[in-house]
Amino acid sequence: MHNINKVQMLEFPQHGDERGHLVIVEGTKDIPFEIKRAFYIYGSDKEVVRGQHANRRSEFVLINVAGTSKVRVKDGEGNEAIFCLNRPHTGIYIPTMVWKDMYDFSADSVLLVLSSEHYDPDEYIRNYEDFQMEICRNL
Ligand code: TYD
Repeated sequence: MHNINKVQMLEFPQHGDERGHLVIVEGTKDIPFEIKRAFYIYGSDKEVVRGQHANRRSEFVLINVAGTSKVRVKDGEGNEAIFCLNRPHTGIYIPTMVWKDMYDFSADSVLLVLSSEHYDPDEYIRNYEDFQMEICRNL
């Protein structure tokens, strides 16, 4: 089974009361990995495409904690899927070896990314043909 089939939307419980909303994301409980890294992306607009890579070791969960964006995932064999991130209590889980593009950012988009690994540029595949070759090799 290709890892693209493990991509899924996650819904986190909301602990709202009259003071507002609270969303909790705990590693290995609400998402399928221990969190080693968090970063967030904002100030991107409708024209920008980010991501454009696959990862050999990092798994990710992306959450639009404000605003909206879209995520396109590709398996390197011609299959792709598009997910809309438009609620602060939902996220998308992206396993290793899945190509991902983030795009169509609203002006107020704040995209929080949780990852299973510390940053290591060597585990990023930034060339789509290299990604396709690695996928073929592992079939
Ligand atoms: P990039 O991978 O292009 O961001 P994204 O794909 O999430 O839009 O990263 C932009 C720059 O930031 C690049 O020079 C690498 C650096 N960077 C880190 O140093 N640590 C990190 O955890 C990340 C995600 C990026």
